[in-house]
Amino acid sequence: MCGIVGYIGKQQAFPIIISGLKRLEYRGYDSSGVVTIDENLKVYKKKGKVSDLLEFVKDKDTKGTIGMGHTRWATHGEPNNVNAHPHTSQNGHFVIVHNGIIENYARLKKRLEARGYSFKSETDTEVLANLIEYIYLKGKISAEIAVRLALTKVIGAYGLVINCINEPDQLIAARKGSPLVIGIGEDEYFIASDATPIIEHTNSVIYLNNDNIAVIKRDQLTLKTIDDDKLIPKVQKLNLGIGEIEKNGYDHFMLKEIFEQPRSIMDTFRGRIAADLSEIRLGGLLDIMPKLIKAKRIIIIGCGTSWHAGLVGEYLFEDISRIPVEVEYASEFRYRNPVIYEDDVVIAISQSGETADTLAAISLAKEAKALVLGICNVVGSSIPRETDAGVYTHAGPEIGVASTKAFTAQVTVLTMMAILLGKERGTITNEEYLNLIKELTYIPEKIKTTLKHDDYYKHIASLYKNATNALYLGRGYFFPVALEGALKLKEISYIHAEGYPAAEMKHGPIALIDENMPVFVIATKDKSYDKIVSNIQEIKARNGKVIAIVTEGDTNIKSMANHVLEVPNAHPVVTALLTVIPFQLLSYHIAVMRNCNVDQPRNLAKSVTVE
Ligand code: M6R
Repeated sequence: MCGIVGYIGKQQAFPIIISGLKRLEYRGYDSSGVVTIDENLKVYKKKGKVSDLLEFVKDKDTKGTIGMGHTRWATHGEPNNVNAHPHTSQNGHFVIVHNGIIENYARLKKRLEARGYSFKSETDTEVLANLIEYIYLKGKISAEIAVRLALTKVIGAYGLVINCINEPDQLIAARKGSPLVIGIGEDEYFIASDATPIIEHTNSVIYLNNDNIAVIKRDQLTLKTIDDDKLIPKVQKLNLGIGEIEKNGYDHFMLKEIFEQPRSIMDTFRGRIAADLSEIRLGGLLDIMPKLIKAKRIIIIGCGTSWHAGLVGEYLFEDISRIPVEVEYASEFRYRNPVIYEDDVVIAISQSGETADTLAAISLAKEAKALVLGICNVVGSSIPRETDAGVYTHAGPEIGVASTKAFTAQVTVLTMMAILLGKERGTITNEEYLNLIKELTYIPEKIKTTLKHDDYYKHIASLYKNATNALYLGRGYFFPVALEGALKLKEISYIHAEGYPAAEMKHGPIALIDENMPVFVIATKDKSYDKIVSNIQEIKARNGKVIAIVTEGDTNIKSMANHVLEVPNAHPVVTALLTVIPFQLLSYHIAVMRNCNVDQPRNLAKSVTVE
């Protein structure tokens, strides 16, 4: 995944583009580049972060009121200056920035080589730049038509911004698969992969749909389909404050997002849980509720943290609503010829709403005529557009690459859905329904209490920061939390970590335990408590270091474990929302102490829009 920014208007483009790229850096940070346009194209590209690019261009001419920029997560070709975007076509007529993948680029490249084109970079994007130029020169046609014709030959995904030096006062933007938003100012337009670079300039935006092409001049925007049919742009208002995309005094976005969770969870149930706690209303599901109630099976798909939230969903739906659930990695589901019935309900979970594997799995489920629902955070992203209905998590922008508040928001939505379905299907009594609603609404306050222990988490982090391996164990609702804890640690601190159902420990992982192995165990009070206590004793018997998450006031485990991290007592159904918090903070502090780049861990990008 990459981030792209474009500007056309009366202001100098360069500062607008650079500040936009900084906002989009979470999408990729292998290299970045910028072009500004007056009578010349001024292209500057640099391996590394936007700050490296800024340093590189500091004495250079960046004048121009049109321009575009790119921050790259490398797919085709290693991260270096040559493979960085923007890419210019061989004869310099076109310059383009691209987010996505041109799948048939090798075939197109061969054909262009046969027609005399040679290539400087290893990227699919340069192929596209040359293809557009070839069609443009051969057909003696406008840039707009050349772009349109070239895109009909392309297989793959793209968000594109293109300039033709012979028609310098316009930018062309096109979308298929990779998101693009256009902000509308006064005689100026802002283009970006998401709304975060736009919000400081305007809150009127147009979200491009797949196969849309926009031709943008300073005072005019024309929107068409790839088949040249004119469209009326749908202007929407952004519901996003600038404060939501700033660090607001925190050292990292991840830390800010962890601490935001009491608020973000309340935002997730705002308007959905009645003020008197008497009912749950999920407006996005109203129309499909009859089908959902009758579902014989729910299949949950997602990747990474969203898949972990899906696993919590499995326990919730089976426990509360008594519906069989399967949880699948979207990437496996899409390729393994799964059996999907028309009366299945498929729930796709995604923070970004843009994950390529999840989108492909949705297509498969739709082909099989299942009802497909989405649980997404980013409003207007691709998954909510592709699904039959859904529920937004409303957690606010999540910028740290490691997902935190998105997870708790996803679990909150799944909990609301399971409780509502339990009531509608008669699998819980009205009393249980009301009690579970109440328990869920207590969670934000209980997270606040948990967050107060942050200094202690920091101390524990200092004790284990040099570990090379770690185990995370949990049972039932806490098995997915163990997986999530391990993922958080490995992705930001580069310590190898594994999550297991605690009972599985005896089937292999126990062999790893020695005095150097920290084992993080979720041991809050629920029906598996005695079993988990036995697991702790087994670890201690092998000299492992036990860091246990326990219910406040638990002295029993305190006497066995090396350290205990307390969370407030809560109903087991909602306790996953609490037990994940210490894991998020421990990982955060360990990563900081190891001098890792917490918000932009190596090799990762915030959303994975390629396979
Ligand atoms: O945007 P999505 O929720 O679809 O993203 C899924 C995963 O890529 C994401 O959760 C990833 O695993 C994060 N780095 C986890 O912190």
